[in-house]
Amino acid sequence: MDVLEAIRKRRSIRRFKKTPLSEGVIETLMEAARLAPSGSNIQPWRFVIVKDERLKARLCRAAFSQKFLREAPVVMVCCGDLLSWKAAKGRSEELISRGDIHLNRESEEALMKRAEGASSAEMHERVPTSMLNVAIAVEHIVLEAVELGLGSCWVRLFDEEKVKQALGLPNNLCVVALLPLGIPDEEPEAGPRLPIHTISSIL
Ligand SMILES: Cc1cc2nc3c(=O)[nH]c(=O)nc-3n(C[C@H](O)[C@H](O)[C@H](O)COP(=O)(O)O)c2cc1C
Repeated sequence: MDVLEAIRKRRSIRRFKKTPLSEGVIETLMEAARLAPSGSNIQPWRFVIVKDERLKARLCRAAFSQKFLREAPVVMVCCGDLLSWKAAKGRSEELISRGDIHLNRESEEALMKRAEGASSAEMHERVPTSMLNVAIAVEHIVLEAVELGLGSCWVRLFDEEKVKQALGLPNNLCVVALLPLGIPDEEPEAGPRLPIHTISSIL
């Protein structure tokens, strides 16, 4: 399947068959996430794969009783590690020394200054960047799931503290999304989308 075909085929799926997902399938989905791009190659994503029925029920309650979270065979809890930015300086040095990033000396200094800022920032200041980077990895999973004949649904409507409590997640993890996954048991129509001319302009 080519990428645009997978993009066109994807729907938010909220009804799943009970069939469990194999370890191999989970590993393939994690591989899709692992290869995502990230700022300074920080790779801040962390995933908790929840299969346990009691934990899924707790996630469902933490997400305002959206019951497809309890019914899906797997719920991926997609997190950002707010401590991963401590490595920003080292990762930026790696990028420069590998010649992956094309900057003159002055711009290199600007990059390093920014990396030092990211390393020393407070954890809460790193939340927006973590969200951005983890979201890319999550969408990699979503599209690879289509390729594997699976469905998923981004879920952001949840109480983060309740999700963290349910799974005993440490303070340095922010929860970016809950992603129920499984074989679809519905075939929703495509949702409406804005036409191209309303979302883009050519200068
Ligand atoms: C960031 C984000 C958060 C979302 N949160 C929820 C959610 O909490 N519950 C839900 O049922 N759907 C959620 N959705 C799914 C959207 O409702 C859905 O993507 C949109 O209606 C378009 O439909 P489609 O995904 O089938 O194309 C979310 C989607 C995104 C991208």
